[in-house]
Amino acid sequence: MTASLEIVQGDIAAQTTGALVTAANAQLAGGGGVDGVIHRAAGPELLHSIRAIGSCPSGSAVMTPAFKLEAQGVRRVIHAVGPIWRGGQSGEAELLAGAYRRSLELATEAGCASIAFPAISTGVYGYPIPEAARVSVSTIRAYLAKHPGLNVRLVLYDRGTLNVFLREASKLGT
Ligand code: APR
Repeated sequence: MTASLEIVQGDIAAQTTGALVTAANAQLAGGGGVDGVIHRAAGPELLHSIRAIGSCPSGSAVMTPAFKLEAQGVRRVIHAVGPIWRGGQSGEAELLAGAYRRSLELATEAGCASIAFPAISTGVYGYPIPEAARVSVSTIRAYLAKHPGLNVRLVLYDRGTLNVFLREASKLGT
């Protein structure tokens, strides 16, 4: 089996991967940005389902069913909590890596063959995009080296963010 990481421009809610990741907050309260888009697409049961879980620390993730997104082949929504950017000296890189790693583990545990991520923490949470790109690409690649067979897609909303991710991924090598 081969592992793959695809970096594309698009809307996370339109993906048909087995698992979809949203950028949640530690209170699992639902939010705007990418979280609002996924909640609207999955329907109100998604919010009930994360409220029942309660909370999730920064640097980790929790998983729920995908509700209305199941119609497009999505089986699980993974609610990943990235760090708020505080200048880079507060463990942000470790926490961001943890959010990606735990999401990948959850997708594997659920038997999903594919997973799509947005650029966690790069919106409201203010993580600089080049730094976030390096952490996400290197964390995903390290995971895939040990877990071949999972297809991972990074879905960037705008072309500028896509270009930064592509540039940083190529600087990191293959
Ligand atoms: N598809 C893919 N990416 C998207 C989409 C979309 N439809 N909409 C927005 N994005 C991108 C943003 O451009 C940004 O780069 O998702 C990235 C993450 O942005 P946010 O959603 O603001 O997430 P984050 O920075 O992790 O902040 C999380 O925001 O909505 C709240 O509840 C959430 O409190 C939490 C915080």
